Amino acid sequence: MRVAQLFDLSGRVAIVTGASRGIGEASARLLADAGAHVVVASRRLDTCEAVAASIRSSGGRATARVCHVGDLASIEQFWNEVDAQFGRVDILVNNAGTNTIFAPVTETDPAAFQKVVDVNFRGYWFMCQAAVRRMRLHGAGTIINVASVTAERPMDNIGVYGATKAAVVNLTQAFARECASEGVRVNCILPGLINTKFAAVLQTEGPVREAALAEIPLRRIGEPTDIAGAVLFLASDAAAYMTGAAMRIDGGMLA
Ligand SMILES: NC(=O)c1ccc[n+]([C@@H]2O[C@H](COP(=O)([O-])OP(=O)(O)OC[C@H]3O[C@@H](n4cnc5c(N)ncnc54)[C@H](OP(=O)(O)O)[C@@H]3O)[C@@H](O)[C@H]2O)c1
Repeated sequence: MRVAQLFDLSGRVAIVTGASRGIGEASARLLADAGAHVVVASRRLDTCEAVAASIRSSGGRATARVCHVGDLASIEQFWNEVDAQFGRVDILVNNAGTNTIFAPVTETDPAAFQKVVDVNFRGYWFMCQAAVRRMRLHGAGTIINVASVTAERPMDNIGVYGATKAAVVNLTQAFARECASEGVRVNCILPGLINTKFAAVLQTEGPVREAALAEIPLRRIGEPTDIAGAVLFLASDAAAYMTGAAMRIDGGMLA
């Protein structure tokens, strides 16, 4: 098979959550460049529409939709809209994540705990469930869950976040095992430190950034495009024999 064919997503519908900026935006742009019709989703329609319009103006196919993955009613409404517009889905990139807690594990506020769990764990779970229920109708599909290196190595003061990301690795394996016979592949990516709003503290020169860089053998903070390439690979037929995998993309941080 030729390279262009291996990575060609023409005719496929790809949903990317948290696609209004950062890793999700970079992934949405690359999937559209590979030929997919991308559904650009987040809590805000205006920012998603800006990304979708930009994709369309570069010759790609994209639609903006609201999907708050911490809200089950919003998830249901989102899938109703996808069903009405496309009647199918081929690729889901579960990327929208949050962290509202920066505190020692012994000082965890229950309400903040619940919010992180609702978005990062419950949201990923029910987005996977909804996607598989549709992918099984045509016997094919691929899901990419964006977890974090904190799934494997907890970081101080973001313990709940890391625990939800470990849950994402586990749910990836659970869905991969049970859904393989229906033609659905499920993998996850563990990004290290990536230059986005989410990791804004790392963008300014100073001791926090220096300490972070000292932990990274490649000696740089990653860019959203560093993750998007792996999303494209996992979404494409190049990864046809991969399911249940957790791919670290961290500049060597966990090595
Ligand atoms: N940056 C890093 O260093 C790093 C490292 C490891 C893992 N990650 C993971 O990578 C993923 C993307 O993060 P990022 O760094 O690209 O962050 P980002 O630039 O802050 O983007 C986050 C995106 O998620 C959306 N979002 C937030 N909460 C949402 C919700 N409840 N429902 C739907 N959309 C929501 C945001 O849009 P709206 O505000 O419009 O909803 C935005 O599009 C996250 O899962 C994060 O945990 C990031």
